[in-house]
Amino acid sequence: MSEQVNLFKKAAGEKAVEYIKDGMIIGLGSGSTVYWTLKKLGELVEEGLNVKGIPSSLRTEGWAKEFKIPLTDFSEVQTLDIAIDGADEIDPDFNLTKGGGGSLVREKMVDAHSKKLIIVADESKMVSQLGEFPLPVEVLPFGWEVTAKKIEALGAKPVLREREDSIFISNNGNYILDCHFHTIADPKKLHHELKQMLGVVETGLFIDMTDTIIIAGQNEVKVIDH
Ligand code: 5RP
Repeated sequence: MSEQVNLFKKAAGEKAVEYIKDGMIIGLGSGSTVYWTLKKLGELVEEGLNVKGIPSSLRTEGWAKEFKIPLTDFSEVQTLDIAIDGADEIDPDFNLTKGGGGSLVREKMVDAHSKKLIIVADESKMVSQLGEFPLPVEVLPFGWEVTAKKIEALGAKPVLREREDSIFISNNGNYILDCHFHTIADPKKLHHELKQMLGVVETGLFIDMTDTIIIAGQNEVKVIDH
């Protein structure tokens, strides 16, 4: 990642902290942009801000602990006040592709149970149509080969995600298929088609969920409400 892109991510991630108020339960998203949100939030916690977070990945949980952000979970809380998360692609209707880091299921759980979802990203994530970024689909390891064949029949090239010469295992013990569609004309329809397939746990399409995006680029940090 270039130094400039990292600065954009930092600007967007830190801006999101302005939405956090005392007493809030916060969904802590995943990725290198949210890292900056967590770091800034940790500073506010140290100054006395009283909040609790639910992390959307083991990596985020590690960062939250490092920054001393108090944590909770769904055994204590059913609804969160706000979630702040990253994205891999954002279309003009605020539909998202997520899961580049492999945390799509936990991210969707946290984001879907929040009253407000804020997406933080650098400007390269804005696209006119989803699909160039391969769509992550979390699948059961058992029979993943037949699940992949069914996804292929929808016009994609599914590739089993690997990490350092072994199969990538999600935080939930599942596999990820990175599905090369190149263009996704109807994200909502595709999400529903995939969800109906036996073996598919969840898709990285986040439809009609985002309330606000914070996008950082060369000269400004833009806040756009849906
Ligand atoms: C992880 C995700 C991340 O939110 C997404 O990959 C964004 O990452 P980054 O902020 O590092 O660009 O969906 O599963």
